[in-house]
Amino acid sequence: MKKTISIAAALLLAQLSFAQSDYTSKAKALMAKMTLEEKIGQLNLVTPGGGVLTGSVVSSDVESKIKNGQVGGLFGIETPEKVRKAQDLAVKQSRLHIPLIFGMDVIHGHKTLYPIPLGISASWDLEMIQKSAAMAAKESTADGLSWAFSPMVDIARDPRWGRISEGSGEDPYLGGEIAKAVVRGYQGKSLSLNNTMMACVKHFALYGGAEAGREYNTVDMSKIKMYEYYLPPYKAAVEAGAGSVMSSFNEIDGVPASANQWLLTDLLRKQWGFKGFVVSDYTSVNEMTDHGIGDLQTVSARALKAGLDMDMVGEGMLTTLLKSLKEGKVSIADIDLACLRILEAKYKLGLFDDPYRYIDESRPAKDILTAENRTIVRNMAAHSMVLLKNNNQLLPLKKSGTIALVGPLADNRRNMLGTWSVSGDWNLSVSVKEGIKNVVGNSVNIIYAKGANITDDAELANHVNVFGVQADMDSRTPAEMINEAVEAAKKSDIVVAVVGESADMSGESSSRADISIPASQVALLKALSATGKPLVIVLINGRPLTLVWENEHANAILEAWAPGTEAGNAVADVLFGDYNPSGKITATFPRSVGQIPIYYNHKNTGRPFSGTGSPKFKSTYLDESNDPLFPFGFGLSYTKFEYSSIHVSKSSLTGNEKLIASVDVKNVGSYKGEEVVQLYISDPVASVTRAVKDLKGFQKIALNAGELKTVQFEITPEQLSFYNNDLKRVWEAGDFIIQIGTNSSDVKSAKVNWKK
Ligand code: BGC
Repeated sequence: MKKTISIAAALLLAQLSFAQSDYTSKAKALMAKMTLEEKIGQLNLVTPGGGVLTGSVVSSDVESKIKNGQVGGLFGIETPEKVRKAQDLAVKQSRLHIPLIFGMDVIHGHKTLYPIPLGISASWDLEMIQKSAAMAAKESTADGLSWAFSPMVDIARDPRWGRISEGSGEDPYLGGEIAKAVVRGYQGKSLSLNNTMMACVKHFALYGGAEAGREYNTVDMSKIKMYEYYLPPYKAAVEAGAGSVMSSFNEIDGVPASANQWLLTDLLRKQWGFKGFVVSDYTSVNEMTDHGIGDLQTVSARALKAGLDMDMVGEGMLTTLLKSLKEGKVSIADIDLACLRILEAKYKLGLFDDPYRYIDESRPAKDILTAENRTIVRNMAAHSMVLLKNNNQLLPLKKSGTIALVGPLADNRRNMLGTWSVSGDWNLSVSVKEGIKNVVGNSVNIIYAKGANITDDAELANHVNVFGVQADMDSRTPAEMINEAVEAAKKSDIVVAVVGESADMSGESSSRADISIPASQVALLKALSATGKPLVIVLINGRPLTLVWENEHANAILEAWAPGTEAGNAVADVLFGDYNPSGKITATFPRSVGQIPIYYNHKNTGRPFSGTGSPKFKSTYLDESNDPLFPFGFGLSYTKFEYSSIHVSKSSLTGNEKLIASVDVKNVGSYKGEEVVQLYISDPVASVTRAVKDLKGFQKIALNAGELKTVQFEITPEQLSFYNNDLKRVWEAGDFIIQIGTNSSDVKSAKVNWKK
């Protein structure tokens, strides 16, 4: 059902579409007709409310602004009907009929949700990740959207930071590979197809380096650390063709990202060749006043000059740029450049050929929440789960007997989608209790008891309940609930406790100083453990947690993250062995908060502690080990994989020769399984100090019971290279330790010498 647009508008659009051959010349031709005010209008991104608002400001007078040509894009509205109304205002009622671009925080799916990004990163399955993003694009475009505020590629080494849940963890190589897969998934073969959408890489840059893991906090880091560890995923996404980039809230070298010329122009455009447009984060332009670099006019002018093209919600550009132009603080060329980039994006999306390209009222029923999409997210969820412990092969569970299913997240749809499920309806998600029923039917007797509130801390509950009650308070006392759960445990063969965090205990503005399971639930776990029944913990959460007690006392632990729409089905698939878990954590799980930041690719220091002998005057703690609870890349399987020692094609190489390093991996257990085989390289002597090891490759392989596969990695000097003190990427001759293994701490090693 397409509504007709006015003949004048149609003629103008046709003229604009066919008069010139490329986007830039088309956009320039259009700009020749635009007033300065209209050009500045294109730089304005507004939200009429209704979505998830992450700041205190909401746009006003959206309708009249669109008609007046004062809006370039809109976010937070969806459905073809609503998007059509807004597009009509722009295309039929504004002077030049310039279409709007419609964005949304599509972070881990649109309406059919797959696990939070930290979860899907644990799958290490790039093909599956790309497929999920393509599915998200198909659903979103069916709902009228053409721009996803994702992927979020911020490296995070601090699990106190709630937004660690939105990224791919701590490793730049894996993060970069995932960033590319997501961009390819969204953008497909062509941005102008009606089932692909523009990606927006965020938050540029270094947002995950917030001091002390506190949200929106200062970032301060060396250039080497930036280049080596924090910037590569953004660069990878740009190289994969991401159409837009979002600037971050934090400062870099004393200048907030949204006005940082070095970042937005020198690095992003001049060094990396980025050709798309840069949008600010939510009111991040205005917030530069609080950062302390000037009033709204000053910060808006600085943002434009630095290379920021679109201003999200704050309207600093809309309201001050003309004044700044008159006062010589910005030039017409600055405004033109930003406007040009936004119009180019609209041309790329095909919006000038057909502003209603993504608006088709018949699509939601065909493309959204389909059985096919549910299958995709169920698989994605199962592949994202990480088996952290499995004593005496307690898992998989038998599809018989009696199970006590306990915990505040066991019969809970509300918290299965996790953070940033803006368009998801939690009512449509499958709880763990329902999923178990779906998978085992009546063959297992389930005795359910809630056992505890997610938290008994009313203040914490209030904080996390801003988007509706996620952490509810039961009318019973904690003791009553625990007693009921203990009684259930006593009558059962095994206890499955589903515990962790509510959906918004991680995500934006959800930093935690204490990252343990909340006390109410730990009390429940302790009481369950005291019954002596085998205890399986299923974790629903958005960040690495401190789990020392749980690891000592539970018989098995399955990290399920926030698994998405098909949560319960996927948890049951894994618990009962229909899918053998293959996930590996992508962010280190610390033993305690005092160890943070803790990450596998750390430096050796001048006084490393080997773990034996006296720790005095070594780099250690008096009261804590240096080791994490679970290292990066760790995850078990129901089967067992045996690694041979490494075979290298040569032990001495020169120049651009290629090294082939291989291992034989054998499935020596009794289940079919998948294994992520990881390649790390150490460079023990270099002109600048290097990390103890860095991930340089991985392959996810499937092996039947008894099967053996040889896994080969081709290594070139590129994988030996690093940023030196002049920020030049170089490699230096010497010895290198090639390591291949099942996680970052459990590897086989071989030394090679590489000459120039
Ligand atoms: C977040 C972004 C998000 C934006 C729009 C901000 O608060 O930092 O990640 O895309 O809001 O919702």
